[in-house]
Amino acid sequence: MARITAGVGCSHVPAIGVAMDLGKTDEPYWAPCFAGFEKSREWIKEAKPDVIFLVYNDHCTVFDASFIPTFALGCAAEFTPADEGWGPRPVPVVRNHQVMASHVAQSLILDEFDITIMNEMEVDHGLTVPLSLMFGNLGVDDEWPCLVVPLCVNVVQYPAPTGNRCYNLGKAVRRAVESFDEDLNVVIFGTGGMSHQLQYKRAGLINEEWDTQFMDRLTSDPVGLSQTPHVEYLREAGSEGVELVMWHIMRGALDDEVDEVHRHYHVPASNTAVGHIILANRKDSGAPK
Ligand code: DHB
Ligand code: FE
Repeated sequence: MARITAGVGCSHVPAIGVAMDLGKTDEPYWAPCFAGFEKSREWIKEAKPDVIFLVYNDHCTVFDASFIPTFALGCAAEFTPADEGWGPRPVPVVRNHQVMASHVAQSLILDEFDITIMNEMEVDHGLTVPLSLMFGNLGVDDEWPCLVVPLCVNVVQYPAPTGNRCYNLGKAVRRAVESFDEDLNVVIFGTGGMSHQLQYKRAGLINEEWDTQFMDRLTSDPVGLSQTPHVEYLREAGSEGVELVMWHIMRGALDDEVDEVHRHYHVPASNTAVGHIILANRKDSGAPK
């Protein structure tokens, strides 16, 4: 049986991808941001996931205003990095576990989560930047070390799904994974965030206190946290802070009891507070019981 053993929360700032692709990670501006991912790269090497279930958002790359699925599951064999205006990122093509993705699609829909099935899809920085942060610099001729099942969530066009809906979707993803009859170690990623606003008068907003309590409550009060209303994300974490609803899908897919394995919080990185957390199910974390 497949099992979700751990979750990763991770921002997806596109400038991080650019810094990696242009070899700028050692520059004084970027070095402290990347330093916080050294432990994460060691951890994921040890954890050796067979599959990453990667919850992310598209930024008007695949979905423009003409059609906007709330939840879209990648069921294609592979996903090519998209050209977001300055050429595709020079990173490996993302390969799916297509049989598992089909099973998850069936399980979610029969479990009454009516996701959109994507049989063709490119992926933007929302998906590739968290992979780069966790696995380091890999080029077009390399392979990502594991398969990736992408779940794309609308957080760009109002209305985004509620945190509650996302948390419950995480539980449904867990049921889907655990009913897939292949021994697989699955790690789930919830990406995007933390506080940021890219436009108008509050552009550049960062709220470290609010971000910190969001990360604290992923362990201490995940259900209460999932009830956070949209307007609180907008007020406290800026208009793009609402990307954080995707972290609830990750958290909902884990056990009630988790251990925080690692956390990193860094400002500045472009206009966004970079937040990163690794949570392992207590029974899988190796921590004292
Ligand atoms: C930035 C952050 C994002 O989440 C995004 O999708 C685009 C830009 C930024 O901070 O520059
Ligand atoms: Fe974004």
